[in-house]
Amino acid sequence: MNLQNYLRSSIIIFILHISSTSGKLPPYIKICSQNDPNIEQCIVDSVMSLQPLLRSGKLVEDYQMPSIEPFTYDDLTIDHGPGFRIELKDLKSWNGSNFEIVNAKVNLEKLTFDFTVTMPNVKMIGKYKMTVKLPLIELSGNGELINLLKNSRMRIKLYASKVEEEGKSFIKFNKANVRFHKGDSQITLTNLFNGDPTLTRIGNQIVNDNQDLFAAEVMPVLEAQFSKIFMEVANKIVENSTFDEIMPP
Ligand SMILES: *[C@@H]1O[C@H](CO)[C@@H](O)[C@H](O)[C@H]1NC(C)=O
Ligand SMILES: *[C@@H]1O[C@H](CO)[C@@H](O)[C@H](O)[C@H]1NC(C)=O
Repeated sequence: MNLQNYLRSSIIIFILHISSTSGKLPPYIKICSQNDPNIEQCIVDSVMSLQPLLRSGKLVEDYQMPSIEPFTYDDLTIDHGPGFRIELKDLKSWNGSNFEIVNAKVNLEKLTFDFTVTMPNVKMIGKYKMTVKLPLIELSGNGELINLLKNSRMRIKLYASKVEEEGKSFIKFNKANVRFHKGDSQITLTNLFNGDPTLTRIGNQIVNDNQDLFAAEVMPVLEAQFSKIFMEVANKIVENSTFDEIMPP
């Protein structure tokens, strides 16, 4: 590299550096003081003020947030051999952004943020393909899945740590644990047993009677997908702000 190029790239790096370390919180973030006796309520209000932006995905100017209306899941396959195979594709859910926070616990020493949210009405639609052998019947089909969920709950626990850079203390989210409780759930599968209407009706009844079995397999995969997105979004929001800017002493 010749001197001129070297100087030019040094200047660019320097400028990028300044703009990334002297940035401020996005204007829509509500500041909560570390000493606020109602810090939990303050954080709840802060998250709720983000709700419209989460819906639109316009959280940060130059960042395309993963859409939550609809929320798009990665395709998934659960394969425990020929007697238990489920594939879900093009799975999306609607109305999850209409959440309410019903509980929040914040621990500023350990930097954990623990929220419980409810979602009154969520609709999931996708394509399924499955063969599942139950004691009395083998369910098989390949069609559309519709899942209506009423009063589902999600518990989201975010684990953060302070990261020192250039003498400043930033906050970084390292892990998110998500537990999804489906609430009152109604599943409809089209084209079970190649679409025979009587068998489809009976098959749907059996699927709904055995929801816990299916949930035990599918939920952990979906929870991992939620964790990834919550971490990404949380880290994005705080990326340019020091801990003291976000939570002044
Ligand atoms: C979304 O949830 C809200 C809150 O429960 C409800 O009023 C609305 O009807 C739901 N919309 C759809 C499309 O289900
Ligand atoms: C942080 O700074 C970078 C570089 O200036 C910018 O692209 C990004 O949008 C900023 N993030 C937020 C949350 O404002």
